[in-house]
Amino acid sequence: ILDTAESFANVNEQRVKKVPLLRGKTIVNLFFEASTRTRTTFELAAKRLSADILNINISTSSTSKGESLLDTLHNLQAMLCDMFIVRHGDSGAAHFIAANVAPHISVINAGDGRHAHPTQAMLDMFTIRRNKGHDFGKLRVAIVGDLLHSRVARSQIHALNTLNTGQVRVIAPKTLLPTDIEDMGVTVFNDLQSGIRDVDVIIMLRLQKERMQGALLPSEHEYYRLYGLTEERLRAARDDAIVMHPGPINRGVEIESRVADGKRSVILDQVTYGISVRMAIMSMVLGRQPEQTEIEAQR
Ligand code: NCD
Repeated sequence: ILDTAESFANVNEQRVKKVPLLRGKTIVNLFFEASTRTRTTFELAAKRLSADILNINISTSSTSKGESLLDTLHNLQAMLCDMFIVRHGDSGAAHFIAANVAPHISVINAGDGRHAHPTQAMLDMFTIRRNKGHDFGKLRVAIVGDLLHSRVARSQIHALNTLNTGQVRVIAPKTLLPTDIEDMGVTVFNDLQSGIRDVDVIIMLRLQKERMQGALLPSEHEYYRLYGLTEERLRAARDDAIVMHPGPINRGVEIESRVADGKRSVILDQVTYGISVRMAIMSMVLGRQPEQTEIEAQR
């Protein structure tokens, strides 16, 4: 996927950013939860592959008139769609939908509850690879913040382990770590300063207050004091360390503006690469594994 995304990154740098690989295919963005980057980059990716894409606004669709999820899906299926991109607040939602729609419809998980956000993790791996090269074995990567509620972190850990990353560290207060964290092949730190020492990559996470039940933190101010990434703290990492964040960022809560906008930040590159990675995933899932030469020939 990452290699195929590399070819699409070339397409995205051209004046005409379009290839006809998915002409005639119909893709539906089905977002039951808020999204800015993921929804729009899936849409752009589909358009750059020449597919037709529908954005279903759930709040104005008949789901709000009491129609069940499966009825909504079966109606979309009756419109002869080829792929659903699904974001939902419940863990397992994309899997459930895949099991209940016609087999010819491909379903892509664009984030389900706290469980997984695989395309985000893949674009993050692509960003690391572009900045640090292909050998993940020599890298130390730290993921910092609200791991308990983060589907992004779960998928990132899975991807980093798949790519045999030298060391994967997680840094968070105990209240924001999942209970099964020790089984995930990571090294746990509760202190930011020692956790980011000599790392090559720092991935910051947002505090997901919408998923928090009860008081897990004394206050945002206290959190920032202990876990906020400031320029001063960043000095503990390697001189060439990059700073990542899946967005949306909360300035002054998990990250200082000087770091988010600073020269180590690749946060907006992640967004750009998201288009190429999603183009790769969509074209591969819809039965086409384009060769680089084919992508080039169609340009
Ligand atoms: C994340 C998500 O929705 O899981 N954002 C994203 O997709 N880029 C992370 C978050 O909401 O904090």
